[in-house]
Amino acid sequence: MARLIDAGPGCAPPTPTRSNETSTALGLVYDDAVKAETDHLYELASDFITPIEWPAIAPLVAAVNRLKREKNAVILAHNYMTPDIFRLVGDFRGDSLQLAREAAKVEADIIVQGGVHFMAETSKILAPEKTVLIPDLRAGCSLAASITGEDVKLIKETYPGVPIVTYVNTTADVKAECHITCTSSNAVQVVEHVAAEFGSDRVILVPDQFLARNVAAMTDIKIMTWPGACEVHELFSADDVEALREAHPGVVILAHPECPPDVLEAADYAGSTAALANYVSERAPAKVVLLTECSMSDNVAAENPDVNFVRPCNLCPHMKRITLENIYECLTNMTHEVTIPEDIRIDAKAAIDAMLALPKMEKPLDFETGLKPLDIELVSTPRLAVDA
Ligand code: 13P
Ligand code: SF4
Repeated sequence: MARLIDAGPGCAPPTPTRSNETSTALGLVYDDAVKAETDHLYELASDFITPIEWPAIAPLVAAVNRLKREKNAVILAHNYMTPDIFRLVGDFRGDSLQLAREAAKVEADIIVQGGVHFMAETSKILAPEKTVLIPDLRAGCSLAASITGEDVKLIKETYPGVPIVTYVNTTADVKAECHITCTSSNAVQVVEHVAAEFGSDRVILVPDQFLARNVAAMTDIKIMTWPGACEVHELFSADDVEALREAHPGVVILAHPECPPDVLEAADYAGSTAALANYVSERAPAKVVLLTECSMSDNVAAENPDVNFVRPCNLCPHMKRITLENIYECLTNMTHEVTIPEDIRIDAKAAIDAMLALPKMEKPLDFETGLKPLDIELVSTPRLAVDA
């Protein structure tokens, strides 16, 4: 079960602890110039950053924003970034699909990925002429680590003619071997499109077995999958949903589709991070819980001060590797540049372009809740047989 924090009235989020040792060590001080540049920004994050912490954070915010201007750089900030990054230095914010669309068209020389490595790769695949930086190379993803390009080659040999869709949470070499990518904002649309294109009643959707099962419950296409899972969302259970309803009568429970299907069965609504944020803004429930990564609630709460958030907190250790400090270092030293061999980039781009070429949906996909979880088949390949 996730750690439960009832924010109660006023939506007080977990308080971060920060001392000004870091900014002082970096030679950054809260002087009059920094005050003039940043003090008007404090209000944007005053629910997250205490007044005592601000003199430690403001010099970093000022330095990052200056470096962006000097170097013509932008920061693409995923919804799971902490609020100091998301609200104070992020230029474009959103879910995986929104950030990919932004990377493809953004006018800048440098993209700093406020997100994990596969997202930085997606930016580089779509914007090869730009320098793409990731502040910490260790910002990985349990889904991306679960499958390789070699695995997909073996799947193709075993299931010739069956289209293979990869969730964007994969490395470039996996994308390069797949027919099309999808995100949780468009997965059903992509699966049905590729099935029709291939004239197939089956589609293989890798590597997230839970996303695949949640998609399978919403389409007549037979879905096969791979035994990958998000280490954050797999921790939520239907028992958690029940416990939340008991502890917080009337609470509206929203879940990300990387959660196991019995969580979606018990939840009130499910969708990508963008869909969850839209739901809260449009429907303004009195009390809500987001079954997803912790920072998401912090970011959505700031936009919806009248909504009370219960905060079950599962942190993504990979997303949390990205900090204001290492964004500053990354822009100062131009580290770490993401590169992809050109042959792999071209093939991976074909899979992403196939997704981006589909008609743009008016809004991110609503996953149906209340559906009975389906058992679906895992692909069978020699590596899975050896590992079993
Ligand atoms: P979305 O933002 O596309 O919903 O993805 C969630 C996620 O886990 C990204 O790592
Ligand atoms: Fe990967 Fe899950 Fe972290 Fe997203 S939240 S980056 S899917 S481990």
